[in-house]
Amino acid sequence: MSFFDNWYRGDATLKAEPDGELVKLFNEKGDGKVLDIGCGQGRNSLYLASLGYDVIAVDVSKHAIIQLNQNVKLLGYDIEGIVCDIGDYSFSEKYDIIVMSNVLQFILKRVEQINIIYKVMEYITTNGIIFIKVPLTEMQLESQCFRNGMLNRLFAHSEYNWEILLDNNKFVAPKKDFEINIFVAKKS
Ligand SMILES: C[S@@+](CC[C@H](N)C(=O)[O-])C[C@H]1O[C@@H](n2cnc3c(N)ncnc32)[C@H](O)[C@@H]1O
Repeated sequence: MSFFDNWYRGDATLKAEPDGELVKLFNEKGDGKVLDIGCGQGRNSLYLASLGYDVIAVDVSKHAIIQLNQNVKLLGYDIEGIVCDIGDYSFSEKYDIIVMSNVLQFILKRVEQINIIYKVMEYITTNGIIFIKVPLTEMQLESQCFRNGMLNRLFAHSEYNWEILLDNNKFVAPKKDFEINIFVAKKS
């Protein structure tokens, strides 16, 4: 059983509110397709579904998806919860919004983190939006690679064109031990 399965089986509850930056970006009715990677208990999936989006929510933890499904049943939203490691997820269609909030740091191998970012770049529609939130902590070695504009460079060198709507990565030196990078890119 994964760390997160154990965690969700306890009383752990993640924040119920969606990410504030996501709410600023999407606050009108929509009808596109969303992929929420590492959706957890589904706060962002539920929010986007409440706006009318058709959401696929993927998480490696079975218990996260069980809890998400309980909420989906209560609220009657259009969300398909899938238990899957994102590294094994077979991308077969394009999405209008892809969300990766607080998940990349748990994908431990750098090459896998980058492979997922490349996959997401490929499977977003033109004008589609990729929303990434990743902590740049001193503590979590796995996320330190996202410092110093790494996401920005990856997108700048991709084969597609991007409009960077938000990139608040100001972490250039280990001055403080916690900072979050919100990175939002639109495919053009
Ligand atoms: C801190 S939680 C964030 C949950 C949600 N995105 C949110 O912001 O509320 C991280 C989630 O990523 C999931 N996760 C970790 N590694 C994963 C992987 N390789 N594939 C899919 N999900 C993964 C965990 O099971 C957990 O639910």
